[in-house]
Amino acid sequence: MNNFIISLLPQGSTIPYELLLLADPSYQAIEIYLPYSDVFVVELAHKVIGVYVLYPLNKQESEIKNIAVLEKYQGKGIGKLLLQHAIAEARKRAYKKLWIGTSNASIGQLYLYQQQGFEITELKKNFFIDNYPEPIFENGLQCKHILMLCQPIE
Ligand code: COA
Repeated sequence: MNNFIISLLPQGSTIPYELLLLADPSYQAIEIYLPYSDVFVVELAHKVIGVYVLYPLNKQESEIKNIAVLEKYQGKGIGKLLLQHAIAEARKRAYKKLWIGTSNASIGQLYLYQQQGFEITELKKNFFIDNYPEPIFENGLQCKHILMLCQPIE
């Protein structure tokens, strides 16, 4: 675990689209939030293996718009480390609430986010149907709605 380094990607660096597209299949959607966000990467031996994107919603609230770990490195606790880093970063920046959204079909992600203190707070019905050109499936289920999870930052 000690070899993972999480840091803010400096402005002008190469954006790890390969990773971002694992979490969000729409390049167009990524391009909308990226200019207003901070991108954090996790590196192992100078190789970027994971990412999360922190987007300010307003002065009090921010949202993790994207979180992804390269497939080869999934299931090793890195997603959990990224979420804990995002929570600490939100606290450092004096946000009062941190949000993250995931689909009705993203069973593992729903488990992980609740395990890390997020509570299901809102549902945006038909979000994936209305905002993505192609149907998206996960775990054999269609991603239709987005569940928004939130946690207060103390
Ligand atoms: N299915 C089942 N369980 C999952 C899971 C999944 N897809 N993703 C995470 N978990 C569980 C793990 O089993 C683990 O449980 P434990 O603490 O009881 O052992 C816990 O969540 C933490 O897992 P971790 O190893 O830290 O997660 P990770 O490094 O694989 O990262 C993601 C999680 C979601 C970032 C990663 O799987 C990923 O990049 N997925 C593709 C992109 C994506 O879906 N992003 C999120 C969009 S909302």
